[in-house]
Amino acid sequence: MPLRTSTGAAYARIEGIGASLPSRVVDNTEMCTYIDSTDEWIQQRTGIRERRWVAEGETVESMSLDAAHKALAHAGLQPSDIDAVIVSTVTHLVQTPSLAAIVAAKLGAKGAAAFDISAACAGFCYGLAQAESLVRSGAAHHALVIGVESLSEITDLSDRSTAFLFSDGAGAAIVGPSDVPAMGPVVWGSDGDQADVIEMDRTWADAVASGKPSFITMQGQAVFRWATGFIADAAKRVLEVSGLSPEELDLFVPHQANNRITDSMLRHLKLPKTVKVARTIQSFGNNSAASIPIALDSMIASGEAKSGEQALVIGFGAGLVYAGQIVTIP
Ligand SMILES: CC(C)(COP(=O)(O)OP(=O)(O)OC[C@H]1O[C@@H](n2cnc3c(N)ncnc32)[C@H](O)[C@@H]1OP(=O)(O)O)[C@@H](O)C(=O)NCCC(=O)NCCS
Repeated sequence: MPLRTSTGAAYARIEGIGASLPSRVVDNTEMCTYIDSTDEWIQQRTGIRERRWVAEGETVESMSLDAAHKALAHAGLQPSDIDAVIVSTVTHLVQTPSLAAIVAAKLGAKGAAAFDISAACAGFCYGLAQAESLVRSGAAHHALVIGVESLSEITDLSDRSTAFLFSDGAGAAIVGPSDVPAMGPVVWGSDGDQADVIEMDRTWADAVASGKPSFITMQGQAVFRWATGFIADAAKRVLEVSGLSPEELDLFVPHQANNRITDSMLRHLKLPKTVKVARTIQSFGNNSAASIPIALDSMIASGEAKSGEQALVIGFGAGLVYAGQIVTIP
């Protein structure tokens, strides 16, 4: 007897999206009580007016569960329908067990395969690529992908080169079978030669030994150059490998790193004015793996993104790593 192999759906699609934002609003005026800066400088350099931070009782776990419940409701599915849970986060601040296993159990996705991935701001798109493959291979029927961060916990509030940028939140998507193509091929990769461009300044062990917390550090101009050059090209490749022309695109939803990076990518891609562009960084800051699903959720809620429309999503960040694909709005 030849070995039997799994066979899955012909295509995969996003079936539902959900988001969870923490309750604490930190505007630029408050930010400027921590760092030497101004509202005008922060808005002009990044587009950020305010950001969200976790308040008492809000955690990566609670935000993940909230976003997951909303995504399930949007998809019209039950927790028991989920057979794989993928959580992308760099702020689940214990090494093991994974946040995904905890979320699967508390959500009621009993027995689902569960694992975390560390792909920073590209994490949601990495998760989508994996979920799409799981569904098409038959390894999973409905996969839950969560991007969640509590970056306020690893941000040095006295560091004027990062403090104003980072924020907290969660976004979730359910990926399941489809009769028609609804997720294009992923364009992804890494450049570990630039590992020091965004990194933690000490290991957890060093933090314990020195009594100093481990914080995120960033070489802002290096990130800016990489994002506006290499990543803008990668976004172009996403369109090419999917066989879409810029005119056929409805939405551009890049990682909400910085509005000036988004503007530069738009110039590079030469997208028509009709393409709707995510700008949720203005209100929510840069919440890494959570930023793309939060932007999708918010554009769906406002009516800006409509079911059946084609969105280009692309994440990029620490590693350095990146991933992007075309997804059809559920
Ligand atoms: C972080 C970032 C906004 C900083 O802007 P920048 O123009 O590179 O800033 P620089 O560090 O070169 O500093 C420029 C000037 O602003 C000043 N400055 C730096 N931080 C400041 C702050 N928080 N408030 C006010 N002024 C500040 C500097 O002192 C410098 O002043 P000078 O010209 O008088 O010497 C920009 O590099 C950036 O957006 N990079 C991409 C980061 C990103 O998107 N990261 C997310 C990746 S997932």
